[in-house]
Amino acid sequence: MPRVAIGLRCRAMRAVQIEEFGGPEVLRLAELPVPEPGPGELLIRVSRAGLNFGDTHQRRNQYIAKHELPVVLGGEVAGVVERVGPPADDSTSGRDPSAVKITHGPSDVPGVGDRAIALLRTGGYAEYAVAPAARAFRIPDGVSDDDALALLIQGLTAWHLLRTSAHLARGESVVVHSAAGGVGSLLTQLAAPLGAGRVIATAGSDERRAEALELGADVALAAETGPAAAPAAAVGDVALADRDGLAGPLTDALIAANGGRPLDVVLDAAGGAVFAQSLAALGPFGRIVAYGNSTREKVAVTNGDLLRSSRAVVGFWLMHLLDRRDMLAEPLADLFARAARGELRPRVGGTYPLADAARAHADLEARRTAGKLTLDTTA
Ligand SMILES: NC(=O)c1ccc[n+]([C@@H]2O[C@H](COP(=O)([O-])OP(=O)(O)OC[C@H]3O[C@@H](n4cnc5c(N)ncnc54)[C@H](OP(=O)(O)O)[C@@H]3O)[C@@H](O)[C@H]2O)c1
Repeated sequence: MPRVAIGLRCRAMRAVQIEEFGGPEVLRLAELPVPEPGPGELLIRVSRAGLNFGDTHQRRNQYIAKHELPVVLGGEVAGVVERVGPPADDSTSGRDPSAVKITHGPSDVPGVGDRAIALLRTGGYAEYAVAPAARAFRIPDGVSDDDALALLIQGLTAWHLLRTSAHLARGESVVVHSAAGGVGSLLTQLAAPLGAGRVIATAGSDERRAEALELGADVALAAETGPAAAPAAAVGDVALADRDGLAGPLTDALIAANGGRPLDVVLDAAGGAVFAQSLAALGPFGRIVAYGNSTREKVAVTNGDLLRSSRAVVGFWLMHLLDRRDMLAEPLADLFARAARGELRPRVGGTYPLADAARAHADLEARRTAGKLTLDTTA
């Protein structure tokens, strides 16, 4: 383990740091000072750090937000609040006071000794992490740290995809791609309770498709793309003009799975041909929400494509909610309540010792895992 000079008065902790961008091997255990909570921040003794697919993009420097090196990755933690920093003084910090306003009152924010989950920009893969109090939430009794983390980023993403981004209306058809993944498995379970009429899942293996059906999907397909067949005939109500350049076998399969009708809502994190062919399967006023790009393939959509078809392409990035506690706390309370009632099953895909972060990233990128991955900082 590389050693760094730690001042005599500083406590040291283990953390997984990257000093260069690259493959999983750049994730290395390091000894770093325990961070100090600043104004409006909490120091959390971390028991579990959540891993996210986006972390693999960050590790390769292919993420939407760029990081300076060295950096400790990790956007979410579960643990116990050990210390509370001084109160935030927003009049002197230069920050917009509304950005850190806690609308639910101080009793809503975890205090010293409370079990908590928190959203961070970086710094989660460590024994201690500092989080803004406005982005920390109590873990309800009876909920494990792993389950709480499975409901945090993935749960909030699923909830807002359906409610805020897609504006799902009662009875609409919904396509959930990668339906057995962390976000996908929650989307599959939440879609019908939040109003969907028909839920069409796609997943990469028979086992995952069986799981999607078990989670509540009406039908589960392989997301087979490939080139478009000769445009001999329209499929369902989709006019030939709408299929130009975008449609393919997945378009046809999705429409067929919806009884020959074009779709209302598609939730996609694959990008590339899956995104393009799903967009072509939407009917007028249908919405596709792009919330990830795991294929790392971009798709160009023109304004002409949109106006000709009356379709909407919507983006979603959880980062835009970080300073909106009301948009975090209320959905999270709803997700925890649904889980407590047994209506929502968080999917935990595995827990790795902190020192094995590189193996966890390699497994995640190779699609060997399904569900929420966490790092055990106590192992
Ligand atoms: N926008 C946001 O704020 C936000 C928040 C959370 C997550 N995300 C994104 O949402 C996606 C899913 O996250 P998650 O936490 O649910 O991850 P996860 O549990 O690892 O699931 C990802 C799923 O994506 C599929 N997949 C993996 N690699 C792929 C590839 N190269 N090409 C196509 N499909 C691939 C796999 O399903 P199959 O093999 O069954 O297809 C896998 O089950 C990620 O892209 C992540 O970055 C975005």
